[in-house]
Amino acid sequence: MNALPQPETETVSFANTTEPKAERRPARPVVEPLTGTPPRSAWVEVDLTKLHRNFQLIARDKPPGVKLLSVVKDDGYGHGAPAVVRAAVEAGALWLAFSTVEEAVALREAGVALPMLLLGDRQERELRWCVEHNLTCCVSERAALTRLAELGGRYNRCIPVHLKVNTGMNRYGVRWNDAVPLAIEIAASRTVRLEGILSHFAQSDEADKTFAMMQLARFKEVLLGLAEAGLPTPVRHLCNSGGFLDLPQAHFDMVRLGILPMGVFPSSVCRRIPGLEPAMSVKARIAAIQQLQPGDCVGYGMRFTATGRQRIAVLPIGYGDGFPRVRNQGFALVRGKRAPLVGGVAMDALTIDITDIPEAELWDEAVLMGCQGEEEISVHEVAKLKNSVSYDVLTSWRERLPRIYVNPPSR
Ligand SMILES: Cc1ncc(COP(=O)(O)O)c(C=O)c1O
Repeated sequence: MNALPQPETETVSFANTTEPKAERRPARPVVEPLTGTPPRSAWVEVDLTKLHRNFQLIARDKPPGVKLLSVVKDDGYGHGAPAVVRAAVEAGALWLAFSTVEEAVALREAGVALPMLLLGDRQERELRWCVEHNLTCCVSERAALTRLAELGGRYNRCIPVHLKVNTGMNRYGVRWNDAVPLAIEIAASRTVRLEGILSHFAQSDEADKTFAMMQLARFKEVLLGLAEAGLPTPVRHLCNSGGFLDLPQAHFDMVRLGILPMGVFPSSVCRRIPGLEPAMSVKARIAAIQQLQPGDCVGYGMRFTATGRQRIAVLPIGYGDGFPRVRNQGFALVRGKRAPLVGGVAMDALTIDITDIPEAELWDEAVLMGCQGEEEISVHEVAKLKNSVSYDVLTSWRERLPRIYVNPPSR
């Protein structure tokens, strides 16, 4: 952001005065120049010690021979990619993964040298960007392979790729029973090299692992096909967070973890790693307090009517910041107590009932997601308000909410 213009000192006209100018001149105000970005009284807070500890606990939990790939897409699941990369690298992560070329290029240009895998398939015009910035592509079909092989020739390089196998998710990837011929083609190329092979679970974090086991069997079938074709074994990776926690038989050479290091378990039934804690909180300060009389309404559409004398606090955060657009649902924490949301969430504000928290004052800190005292509003609780999942909540806080990094780890 550009530096803000510096405030000018006051100018005073002396045109109509008969008194000596020197005596009328006001003291010159001393104003420090403003720096940084303007403060906002609503923000996303990321606890760096928790983020680092989560990665360390996962690194300790994982079998030593299994490599860690940190999935940093969507700005590190909303936590800020640079902070996540730093914590991942310190815990020994050897790979990073992104879903857009832009995100990966930004980190390359910031000096991150780790191998970077782009999940999903790439359009032809993205491929040169990948080659120039050393970003590893997944290959699911022949056209991309041909184009990458041409680029390898032009750049005089042997370009590493990972073969993406569709074992049942039916999103990206070559269908498992067509995968070996494509792998053989890659292996035959002089300008492209089969560095890795992967697939992705459609359902790894639920109690019923039937489908996941079928996907695992199909993946193994492909690996057997590669071995039978005499191809060297590439880096094999199949597990996301759910698979990592619950399917040790599917760990292979590397696991791709996104949500777990953020301290959020992908489901309520998967295995727990003790000590993991959510690194992200969402907070706002009470910007106004209204004393309601019985019959008074609150907000657009008059969705809440006071039944008695009620005290209402306004928090300057709304659906324009990514908070779910609910009415008379959900809570915020104030002074360690739950205050129910009343009325409808607006674009820039929401209202909570603080009648039972008489000690609450203007500009008190309120928590919309996270802990305060003994109370917690979990990401899953917010997800219920959206009728969605934790992944959606973490990545939906909008950019206009500043990310504030607190509690850096002691070194
Ligand atoms: C291919 C792939 N691998 C791994 C992950 C990480 O998943 P999770 O956040 O559940 O660990 C994702 C995320 O969606 C993905 O698309």
